[in-house]
Amino acid sequence: MAEKEYILVSVAWPYASADIHQGNVTGSYLPADIYARFHRLKGNHVLMVSGSDTHGTPVTVKADDVGLTPMEVVDIYHGRFLNVFLGLGLTYDLFTHTDTENHHKVTQDLFTALLNNEYMYRKTTPQMYSPKSGKFLPDRYVEGTCPNCGYTRARGDQCDNCNTLFESASELINPRSKTDDSALELRDTEHYFLDLPAIAEDGLAEWIQKDKEHWRPQVINFTKNLILEEGLIGRAVTRDMEWGIKVPVEGWDGKVIYVWFEAVIGYLSAAIEWAKNQGQPEAWKNWWYNPKARTVYFIGKDNIPFHAIFWPAQLMGAKRLYEDDPNKRLNLPYDVPANEFMNMEGKKISGSMNWGVWMEDALQRHDPDPLRYYLTAVMPETRDSDWSWQGYVDRNNTELVSNWGNLVNRVLNMTNRYFKGVVPDPGELTQQDKALLSAIDAGLDSVSALYDACKFRAAVQENLRLSTLVNQYLEETSPWTTAKTDLTATARSLYTALQAINTLKITWAPILPFTSQALHEMLGEKGTLFGAQKVETYQESTRSHTALTYDSDSAVGTWTRGEIPIGRQLPKPKPLFKKLDDSVVADEFARLGPKPE
Ligand code: MF3
Ligand code: ZN
Repeated sequence: MAEKEYILVSVAWPYASADIHQGNVTGSYLPADIYARFHRLKGNHVLMVSGSDTHGTPVTVKADDVGLTPMEVVDIYHGRFLNVFLGLGLTYDLFTHTDTENHHKVTQDLFTALLNNEYMYRKTTPQMYSPKSGKFLPDRYVEGTCPNCGYTRARGDQCDNCNTLFESASELINPRSKTDDSALELRDTEHYFLDLPAIAEDGLAEWIQKDKEHWRPQVINFTKNLILEEGLIGRAVTRDMEWGIKVPVEGWDGKVIYVWFEAVIGYLSAAIEWAKNQGQPEAWKNWWYNPKARTVYFIGKDNIPFHAIFWPAQLMGAKRLYEDDPNKRLNLPYDVPANEFMNMEGKKISGSMNWGVWMEDALQRHDPDPLRYYLTAVMPETRDSDWSWQGYVDRNNTELVSNWGNLVNRVLNMTNRYFKGVVPDPGELTQQDKALLSAIDAGLDSVSALYDACKFRAAVQENLRLSTLVNQYLEETSPWTTAKTDLTATARSLYTALQAINTLKITWAPILPFTSQALHEMLGEKGTLFGAQKVETYQESTRSHTALTYDSDSAVGTWTRGEIPIGRQLPKPKPLFKKLDDSVVADEFARLGPKPE
């Protein structure tokens, strides 16, 4: 037996200010879950963590828009995220959020470690200030005339008319407050900066050049270019804002730690929180201080700099945390398999245009496995991809239903018809039977290599190829013909096919966990392939919070060929999938686009 590995599956933290759409799911949550489930079946020690990103201007802007407090907004969206992830079967060991006491503390401790290691410096820069409200304003709260195209309602970070990005809102002509239209002025303010050039010199530049052959070309090229060619500059890691995590330095009230600096720390703080909840407070170190552990980050391409540069720099600069051994270091990312974007019917997914598949809503009408199937088949692994409802219907019908689903139906129905649902005695297997079974066994290795390399689209194709082999085998052995003349031949064929689909149930399971479980039961097997998802409430000293968790104890699934024994009475079979009518396309289109007021 191979040694069990420690795998930290780190998943992007969604801002608790917008509903989850199919682009988020295919971009990071689903590939992470497939990878986690695969490694769980392999028997590895998986820890899959994430949570709601509760701070930053996305949340405060939303709160202002809807007239709620940031905390109220966070509670609403965090709750919805838990529903979506339960419905889609995402097996987070812990999906928490960044407004826990634990996360505040770990963030402040890591900030302090960087301070003590002299990777932080203070610098005073001019910033937009509103004399009317007596506050500095984040760039998103500033509006003015675009210096490039003259558009009068350009935002402080970007002009929506000509798409110019601004370094600072001070580039705008006549800057005004977005909230009350009052005039703004520049005022000096002091912030902490992370000394990225120093960290690059002390090891980050070396790290990015070593053992990265398994990284996706677009990720490693982008990252190397920034670190080695363009060169890093210091970055402000504090903000003049109230909503967020306090800067752990005397006299810095009224300033908070920059949301991106702290959200990524969630990967560490969530592991610590998980360990505490398990009653094994040191257990997180198996993933964070074990040099053999693999930490893998599932994110969208817009997040690459934060995960492949800044977060590694924070970890490297902090050196260690809650660990006395001076030789130990926090693990740096093993891989950052970032995905490109998914569009919708040829256009960008957009909340304000109601252009997207809103997952909580879609799960009311669609089963999770077909959604997972299509989102994996068109996952934007190497380039942007497109969701189309016609594509969803077609691929459900012509691949999932007619290839894999039909195979399962035929085999189980014939076993029912010809042998009253009892697994038949095949007698001596022929060369042809053995050849099929060894081709399917080889599939355990070929599919395994694809999952492990995060090539999930290819894993779909390989699973389809394997199930096609079994379909062809059935055509060749034609058990429905031999049933009239040679029932032993029928028995051999169905017995062999039953063993084959029992193996394919495993190779499909990371992508199709619900229907693989159903098939597991229809083959008369006991227990559940995976563990159980649960929503739990944790009490911290000042308030309680809810989280999604996963209990792996009950899981029986393993990445091996099993054996469905001769003579077993199988339960009555039911179809795994539904053929979808073309009317689904029109029905879904009618829900898209601006809602009438
Ligand atoms: N909240 C960010 C977004 O939605 C992602 C944060 S990933 C994290 O783009 F790791 F930084 F939290
Ligand atoms: Zn412009």
